[in-house]
Amino acid sequence: MEKKIKSLLDRMTLEEKAGQLQQCGPSIVGAFDVDFEELVNMAYDGRISGEEFQRLMSTAEQDYHESELRAGRIGSYNGISDAKIVNRLQKIAVEETRLGIPLLFGYDVLHGYRTVTPIPLGESCAWDPDLWERTARMSAEEAGAGGIHMTFAPMVDVSKDARWGRISEGAGEDAYLNAKYGVAKVKGFQGSSLKEPDTMIACVKHFAGYGAVESGRDYNRVDLSPQKLYEEYLPPYEACVRAGARAVMPAFNDLDGVPCTINQWLLRKVLREDWQFDGMTISDANAIAECVEHGIAADRRDAAAKALLAGVDMDMTSDCYSQHVVHLVEEGILPEEVLDQAVGNILRIKMELGLFEHPFRTDEEKEKKTILKPEFRATARKAAEESMVLLENSGILPLRTECRIALSGELAGIRSEMSGTWAIKCSGEDCVSIADACAQRRIEYETYTEEEIIRCDSVEELFQGYDVILAAVGEKKNQSGEAASRTDLALAPIQKKMLERLAKSGRPVVAVIFNGRPLAIPELKGQAQAILEAWHPGVEAGNAILNILFGTVNPSGKLTTTFPHAVGECPVYYDHIRTGRPAGRSKFTSKYLDVPSEPVYPFGYGLSYTAYTYSDLEIAERKESVTVSVKVKNVGDVDGMEIVQCYFHDPVALRVRPVKKLIDFVKTPLSAGEEKRVVFEIPKEKLGYYDPQMRFVVEAGEYEFFVGGNSSDCLVCRTNLCGLSN
Ligand code: NOJ
Repeated sequence: MEKKIKSLLDRMTLEEKAGQLQQCGPSIVGAFDVDFEELVNMAYDGRISGEEFQRLMSTAEQDYHESELRAGRIGSYNGISDAKIVNRLQKIAVEETRLGIPLLFGYDVLHGYRTVTPIPLGESCAWDPDLWERTARMSAEEAGAGGIHMTFAPMVDVSKDARWGRISEGAGEDAYLNAKYGVAKVKGFQGSSLKEPDTMIACVKHFAGYGAVESGRDYNRVDLSPQKLYEEYLPPYEACVRAGARAVMPAFNDLDGVPCTINQWLLRKVLREDWQFDGMTISDANAIAECVEHGIAADRRDAAAKALLAGVDMDMTSDCYSQHVVHLVEEGILPEEVLDQAVGNILRIKMELGLFEHPFRTDEEKEKKTILKPEFRATARKAAEESMVLLENSGILPLRTECRIALSGELAGIRSEMSGTWAIKCSGEDCVSIADACAQRRIEYETYTEEEIIRCDSVEELFQGYDVILAAVGEKKNQSGEAASRTDLALAPIQKKMLERLAKSGRPVVAVIFNGRPLAIPELKGQAQAILEAWHPGVEAGNAILNILFGTVNPSGKLTTTFPHAVGECPVYYDHIRTGRPAGRSKFTSKYLDVPSEPVYPFGYGLSYTAYTYSDLEIAERKESVTVSVKVKNVGDVDGMEIVQCYFHDPVALRVRPVKKLIDFVKTPLSAGEEKRVVFEIPKEKLGYYDPQMRFVVEAGEYEFFVGGNSSDCLVCRTNLCGLSN
């Protein structure tokens, strides 16, 4: 392969080399009576619906820059999701360009292509690496049939800040969990051979530390101590790279003052040298050009030079490379070897995908047959069921089969809101709402909007004939995701008013929440007899919700993100560093005056229709590892799945350590009455940390191990470990 790359490079002109670095996004040129900007404004003002806007966009005429493609000035496209168009452009690339180099098609397939599964934050609550891998395999098969070669996923940005809208796109606040999630996704997307058409290159993002944007405001700065970066933020990216991810996307943000897009230390030293990454890197959208706005490049030409020197191979849609790289090399500012390296990295990926031999990996027929296959829907439903977290249940759930239901709140009926962020290909019609699922199952139900409930004279009368009220509340899909940071994590005022009235109806209320982030909803447990956290569950939303509410499925999901009382606490997370004055009842301790110190729902928390007890925590030391084991018993009368979590703490160290850190977990089935011993084999390496001189140390001495069903409620055992090698 290296020989082939070399011989191609020898034959390429500078223009053709620069062309390979260019990822182009089609622009919209017409087909509207009104111009594009006005259309956006109309959607913004609510004069056309989001659905109508989507429909117009997908039927609009687009400019694929074909003359540039023919001239060898485009190496990749972003955002095309149509096998016919993909093949038409690929045909131009392989038959009409001088060297016939195939194109690479990239797309954001974060949680499903057309068969959308729960948002990543939701799916992470399944704590199930097999499931994560299976849903990624399914996405690759479906997106592959649509012509996609590379997905801009997984996003493994650890995020501890609910204000940040993109918390929805990752696996929550814990580094270990994000690493497990990311590795499973990489395996699933890339399959066993990239030459198979049902695989995609995984592009791990956003490297690095994007989840730590100051004050949770998107695109903001990131300032992290080296220890924090290495212990809490880098591990998931590293795990994905070591698992074989073939692409990496530097983040928009700066890291301690140097934007990741031009960060030589990050992209050359950490990524390529330390982690031995030999895949391709691609900037985030327009990020190279934005280095000018950052104030770190004089102009776009300077930005192009800096990004390429830092090791960014492909330019996502900013045109900085296509406009400046040739001159930069001709003028001797950029060594041609640097350019060759970047081109080589891209050609290698195209070869690994087998595109030189088989540039057409799909066709319209295959696309049609693959999209939304029934077995995909079944997987999406299973994923949604495993992702939902039962937060409260006074005993009203599971519901009786024959009960009459009042569906309140518009979210119970809006299909298009079920898919969540980054579900570009999925339309509302693909999704099953709660109302749809009720109708299909012939459940007796009626729907009520927030306004109807708020304005009615008597809620008692309105809901007289019902056994239960389902209140659908939370966020719409565009309230989380990119550029959707919020300073208020409470429910919308109209939803709050509705819930206040429902609480006075005399009927039991079950709240189902849809959201892309933890919400501050401490009051909800006083208003509802049960609360189901559904996230944005994907195409099978309504079916999965009813399966849980009616007890066909026993809920097992556990939170991967802490639920605060109020936004003012954010960031709030379980693995916080110890202080000299831990929160207590006395005044001068580390706490807020106006909210309790314990979160509303802690990391790892989630209920089931059964209950589990933990006993007999045992620790045994081996040479290189520690064995932690515990007995877990299902003490209820239904079968269930328990997520058993193992945490540790280093009580005296060279640097102040977190109060608790997740070190392993097991998801295990337990039938009613069953008891089993769950065993964790923990390599001592995992107990290490970086000392003040940035040396990785695994100290001998005392450790605490905690095992339980959530981060707040664990059995604990102290032990002295010796024989640890540094
Ligand atoms: C910007 C986002 O930050 C990134 O996650 C995404 O992959 C690109 N746009 C492409 O859509």
